[in-house]
Order: sequence, then C-alpha cells, then structure tokens
Amino acid sequence: MKNIVLIGFMGVGKGSVAREIVQQSDLVALDTDDIIESMENRSIKKIFAQEGEEYFRILERKVAQWLQKEVRGTLISTGGGFFKVPNLKKIGTVVYLSAPFETIHSRILAHPDAEKKLRKRPLFQDIEKAIKLYDERSAHYKKVADVVIDVSNKELADIAKEILKKVK
Ligand code: S3P
Repeated sequence: MKNIVLIGFMGVGKGSVAREIVQQSDLVALDTDDIIESMENRSIKKIFAQEGEEYFRILERKVAQWLQKEVRGTLISTGGGFFKVPNLKKIGTVVYLSAPFETIHSRILAHPDAEKKLRKRPLFQDIEKAIKLYDERSAHYKKVADVVIDVSNKELADIAKEILKKVK
C-alpha cells in the first residue's frame, strides 16, 4: 500500500488528524518534524535559531529521500513547508488539509497551550508574515495534492473517515 502524506499550513491540524486516523485504522504514523528533531536532538525552534531555515529545509529533503526509498504503507504527517520537497509525489498519496487562515489562527488560540504552540513555530511569530506565507502557499498546496480535504467546521473523526475513504 502507498503511504498517505498529510500536507497543509502550520496549525491546520495535521498531527491531530494523523492521530485520529491511527485510531480508526491499523496504520502506523510518523511525523517529519519529529524525525528531524530526533535526528538533531534539538527542537525545530532551536534548529531555526542556531542554523537557519535553509539548514532545516536540507534536512526535510533528506527525510523525503529516505521516506521514498524505505517507507511503505505509513501515514506521514509533515511540517507546513515539507510540500516543497522535489520528490513529494513519489512518497505517497498527497492529502492537503485546507482551511481559511482565520480558522487556523483561531484553532491555535483556542488550544489550552496556545502560547507554546505559537512559540515553537518560528514562521508563526509575526501574524502579518504568517498571513503572507499562507497566501503564497495556498495555491501550491492545492496544486501538489492528490486529494483536498476542507477541514473547517468538521469533527476530527469525520475528517479521518473522509481521508480513509478517499485514499483507499
Ligand atoms: C514550517 C512548519 C512547521 C515546521 C517548521 C516550518 C513551515 O511545522 O516544520 O516550523 O515552513 O510551515 P507545522 O506545520 O507542524 O507547524
């Protein structure tokens, strides 16, 4: 079976959706940001601060090569910029989780740990810059996706069901 690759903007809920899919299926999940943090033994925030964004993007491309070569039948959640790796489509079926920026922002703010959620995301420090990035990326996410799922105003359980139905 092909991998399922979840892409979408920071805070749209890729991790939450992945955990729900895991509960509803026999799939095992992994997350590209988690792999990078574990390879580096430091947080994404630290990697950005100490090495800069380009270094992080190189690690994303390295992980992408490994996923294509070695990983099968797995649910893969990704960082918001992972969709740019050149071999994305060779990793698996690409599912774009889509929602308006305001929905994403409110979702983060509604979280009990909202401050931490924002702090750990270097590219979400300045709201104006985050909106600009969202606007720049939206069309690209759609373009690379095999499946687009609008996640706004939907229960996690229903989003997971919809994805499983569409990729099987
Ligand atoms: C990024 C998104 C982050 C993380 C890094 C860069 C981006 O992941 O990979 O901070 O470029 O959008 P989340 O989408 O899980 O926040």
